[in-house]
Amino acid sequence: MSLTIFITICYIIASVLFIIGLKRMNSPVSARKANQLSAVGMLIAIVATLLTSGMMEWQWIAFGLAVGTGLGILAAVKVTMTAMPQMVGLLNGSGGLASFIVGWSAYHYRPGASLLTTISTYLAILIGGVTFTGSFIAWAKLEEKFVTGKPIIFAGQKIVNSLLLGSLVVGGIIFCAHPADNYPLFVVIMVLSLILGVMVVIPIGGADMPVVISLLNSYSGMAGAATGFVIINSMLIVAGSLVGASGIILTRIMCKAMNRSLANVLFSGFGSVVKKQTSEAKGEAKAISVKDAYYVLEAARSVVFVPGYGMAVAQAQHAVRELGKILENNGAEVRYAIHPVAGRMPGHMNVLLAEADVPYDQLFEMDAINPIIDTIDVAVVIGANDVVNPAARSDKSSPIYGMPIINVDKAKTVFVLKRSMRSGFAGIENELFYYDNTRMLFGDAKESIQALVAEFKSV
Ligand code: TAP
Repeated sequence: MSLTIFITICYIIASVLFIIGLKRMNSPVSARKANQLSAVGMLIAIVATLLTSGMMEWQWIAFGLAVGTGLGILAAVKVTMTAMPQMVGLLNGSGGLASFIVGWSAYHYRPGASLLTTISTYLAILIGGVTFTGSFIAWAKLEEKFVTGKPIIFAGQKIVNSLLLGSLVVGGIIFCAHPADNYPLFVVIMVLSLILGVMVVIPIGGADMPVVISLLNSYSGMAGAATGFVIINSMLIVAGSLVGASGIILTRIMCKAMNRSLANVLFSGFGSVVKKQTSEAKGEAKAISVKDAYYVLEAARSVVFVPGYGMAVAQAQHAVRELGKILENNGAEVRYAIHPVAGRMPGHMNVLLAEADVPYDQLFEMDAINPIIDTIDVAVVIGANDVVNPAARSDKSSPIYGMPIINVDKAKTVFVLKRSMRSGFAGIENELFYYDNTRMLFGDAKESIQALVAEFKSV
């Protein structure tokens, strides 16, 4: 078998492993194995690339592989689950930078390249540059380092961005028509691409960043695919296309679950102004003590926990799992209902509950829990707000109108565990707190749950 055929077979095996890996990501049960499969695929791809004839300075690739593996292991151990969006942001940025650098060097080492290669080089620079600086700003916004997490809006911003994009398109056409004698224009395109990345991300608020990061993930894939055309590497084209397509699908799923268009996420400056309260307070919210909440839970035959961002902030997942077990032992049927955009990143609640060893068969998606929610004795809302706000069903003026929610208000009793009457991410009031069947258990979610556990244990 010739070396070329062997490398092609390795690339096909790696591609198949990527596809199976992606497919198996759709369930928490198989996700871990899925990641390992994809990692093996990537290793096969790198080793096969090292075998390519004419690979003179393979030591640099081996060195990069060692450094990358070391950094990857360090990050996997050190980075907390709640900092995962930032981590993914940095990884996307690195992918973008890699494509940018390959595109830049391709200009020098492939003089007289075909039109397809020239267009691919231009795209690798444009998309790679935007992904690199855009991801860096997304990371900085989430970390609140160097730049505020709030949307940065100024007069004429859209015009400036349109001019930037227009210049890049016109510059790209001129460059692709005459690449050989246009290095200064190529440098201008590189600089403008980097500036565009900053400009398109600064008007977006920190809380919308997970959507942006998912979009930039898609861009990093597209930049990688373009780079694959530049260096004529089929593996890179396949891997880049997979990342590009899956990133855009995830972005769409997130926007749909928030009932917002991608344009609204990217251009509306969501979170830059305090939104008006959309619903009038109906009566008074009724607080409940831990003791009284305990009596109700003790008598409950079915309980559903509905976690939200506050559970992540309080890191209450282990306490919630402990309470769940106690309730089960007490004869109640316990379920955990998960809204697709509860928290601040895709799968946020699944990850936290998995960390606390909640059995997968007790996890219910929104569409599975809603039809039976009126049979539930107690719905315990743990630091969730927008994802259980009935205004999404009824108030046409609400910014979240139309967003599917978990209909906890239809349960017989609702406990809402939060620290105050403050709003959630969307900045709007929640009339659920004033409903007759709702009781507010004020305090940090972890402390409240631990206090309930203590009540059960004290008898
Ligand atoms: P939110 O609506 O943001 O509400 C979270 C609530 O948690 C707050 O009202 C807060 O009330 C409470 N909280 C905070 N710290 C707490 C603590 N230590 N103990 C108890 N409660 C605490 O959360 P949600 O219902 O999960 O909704 C998610 C929102 O984020 C949606 O609007 C969604 O569109 C948006 N979003 C989600 C994603 C993804 S992918 N998940 C991405 C971007 C945006 P207090 O301050 O009164 O305690």
